[in-house]
Amino acid sequence: MAFDFAPLAPAGAPPPAARWTGSARFNFTGGNNDADAVPLDGLMAAAQAVLAREGRSLSHYGLASGPQGYRPLREFLAAKLARGAGIACTADDILIVSGSLQALDLANGALLARGDTVICEQDNYQGTLTRYARLGVKPVAIPLDAHGLRIDALEAALADLKRQGIRPKFIYTIPTVQNPTGTILPEDRRAALLKLADAYGVPVVEDDCYADLIWSGQRPPALYAMSKSEDVIHIGSFSKSIAPALRVGFIVAPWSIMSRMLALKTDAGSGALEQMVLAEYCRDHFATHVPQLRVALRKKLDTLMEALNEQFGTAAEFAAPEGGIFLRVKLPDQVDTLTLYQKALAAGVAINPGPEWSTDKAHAKSRMRLCFASPSHEQIRDGIAILADICRKEFGVPERSANVSRTRD
Ligand SMILES: Cc1ncc(COP(=O)(O)O)c(C=O)c1O
Repeated sequence: MAFDFAPLAPAGAPPPAARWTGSARFNFTGGNNDADAVPLDGLMAAAQAVLAREGRSLSHYGLASGPQGYRPLREFLAAKLARGAGIACTADDILIVSGSLQALDLANGALLARGDTVICEQDNYQGTLTRYARLGVKPVAIPLDAHGLRIDALEAALADLKRQGIRPKFIYTIPTVQNPTGTILPEDRRAALLKLADAYGVPVVEDDCYADLIWSGQRPPALYAMSKSEDVIHIGSFSKSIAPALRVGFIVAPWSIMSRMLALKTDAGSGALEQMVLAEYCRDHFATHVPQLRVALRKKLDTLMEALNEQFGTAAEFAAPEGGIFLRVKLPDQVDTLTLYQKALAAGVAINPGPEWSTDKAHAKSRMRLCFASPSHEQIRDGIAILADICRKEFGVPERSANVSRTRD
């Protein structure tokens, strides 16, 4: 008989994971990217060049660059962040991590204890919300509008917490192409957020992994760049600009907190080959690759919006995001997207139901998030047609789709 590990699991361990059974045929979930846009030729040439030149440094943990990651990659990032995000930093202010998920774990690990409070956006990245739940941390959620986090609500929440004698550990925000709403926090709101953070003595965790994917190529300055009091931890990633499976992200932070996060990164460094190949590729090609990727993504967004208009008509409400890889869609109130998710999955269409991406389950009930980056144009059109059909059968909406009037079966 197989050994029973279950009784040995420590209290608080997460429930066992389900086995992976493959991806849905029409996959609108997750943060996957456009397969055709992965710069394969450039990455192959970079791998060849960097390994031929300095591959023997793989014999040493950290590639003789120390625990913060491959130095040429950190140097590339310092220059890129100065140009795009307005961040003045050096390679020494940057820690390379295994995707921005590890960055979240390190920031959480350095700052949070069970029972703590954090402030975050109401609609939020599922990976962040599940982390807070697992850590026993209370998220105080701030609603968003068309321009991101509402500063009036943030001010009210900070004042309210202060009255209760609670000092939140940090404000976690995704200010630049928010996940899942796609909003971009304008510069004046960024300034107001930082002013409040300063006034209440609360630091900021800035999760900025979509910042390269704004259609116009123009992003507001990072909170890290605007802060005058060294109270921002800035998190970025190559997942959205190059490829998520590489698992390379980074943190820019003042040494006072960087040193604490570094002490928690006990994996002897993130994958070195990925860092070397990225540094080699990005030095000459990042600036041309990203605009091409943006054009490809923008076209897919258009296809998705057209398909939704055609299949759902007025039943699907959405605002075109200014960048990123997701579209947030509001369906009529009677639609429960958790049920829609189950039914659609059985028909080979995977969506992200709103309640998994929000602290306010009722508000999110009839909302869904669709990733348009990874399905092909054809899959987008076919998948949305199937989704509309299932939605109509389950919830009676859309009444008409693809210009065909239908009644509920
Ligand atoms: C807001 C946000 N943060 C972090 C991540 C994790 O990204 P990665 O670990 O691939 O860098 C994602 C992925 O979708 C995300 O949307």
